[in-house]
Amino acid sequence: MPEPTTAQAAAVLRRGGLVAFPTETVYGLGADASNAMAVARLYRVKGRPAEHPVIVHLAHADAAFAWAREVPDAARILAARFWPGPLTLILKRSALAQDFVTGGQDTVGLRVPSHSVAQQLLRDFGSGVAAPSANRFGHVSPTSAAHVREDLGGDVDLVLEGGPSEVGIESTIVDVSRGAPSVLRPGHISKRQLEEALGTTVSEKKSDSPRHSGGLQRHYAPRTPALLVPTYALDREIAKGKDKVAVLAFSRPDERVDFWLRMPRDPQAYAQRLYAALRELDTAGCERILVEEPPQAPEWSAVHDRLRRACEPA
Ligand code: TXA
Ligand code: MG
Repeated sequence: MPEPTTAQAAAVLRRGGLVAFPTETVYGLGADASNAMAVARLYRVKGRPAEHPVIVHLAHADAAFAWAREVPDAARILAARFWPGPLTLILKRSALAQDFVTGGQDTVGLRVPSHSVAQQLLRDFGSGVAAPSANRFGHVSPTSAAHVREDLGGDVDLVLEGGPSEVGIESTIVDVSRGAPSVLRPGHISKRQLEEALGTTVSEKKSDSPRHSGGLQRHYAPRTPALLVPTYALDREIAKGKDKVAVLAFSRPDERVDFWLRMPRDPQAYAQRLYAALRELDTAGCERILVEEPPQAPEWSAVHDRLRRACEPA
């Protein structure tokens, strides 16, 4: 069977259907952001609570800003610098952003992705696409079309193929809706890059607020219990268990371990492979996953954020 086209996918969205599509961060599960029934089905399929807001995706900044009633300078600067790309802006919503996408909040999350398939889909559709990551609620985000099918199976009407996601972790979320910009979720675009673009300091919220699901503990998590272990304690953790363990580490495989994945020491390469690696470890038939803690440096902050949510501390 030929791969479905973005034009076919846009037609599915217009009928109120669900389309999974690639972005440079992770795959999204899309619905027409103006269609209450379609978005309701999206939430059902994801298993996501209705009060959790969803990001609205558009092809370009002008189309995105129509969903906001106020666009402060900071938003324009960040959009000009980082869109299309792995950045989500939180803005005061316009009438286009209805309660069923904002979870009843007065703000809306907007993103212009750069992936060519996402761009083509958004152009073909010509309006906002509401899209959370295309995984079941709480599970690891998908970075390939195969991951989407594993998670959602027949609950999605059409899956667009777009290769492995280049960034591999979800977009950086910046709240520009209330004065000084603040990072709600770290990502590939770093706090320092945001500060350089804006010429001001940017705060980083410790996102514990259950208003956004990325803020929940044990989110983005594999099903096997995963433990985050400092390098010095890895050997001890391996030695102590009588159970089968799977390890994600920087160093070479240890013979005592049943399943070992070696990760790159570059934070961006690590992020790109992280979710596929967690899925692989999860299906290795082990009782525990041990994840070696990456360095405590600012360029690792987005990876640390995801690992903290996927793992329990040692
Ligand atoms: O990279 C990404 O952002 C991917 C791709 C598909 O675009 N999407 C994604 O969506 O990660 P999701 O729903 O899995 O995570 C979006 C996060 C959630 O934590 C949500 O609560 C938060 O964005 N969010 C959305 N609208 C918000 C708002 N108005 N205020 C605060 N947080 C918001
Ligand atoms: Mg998600």
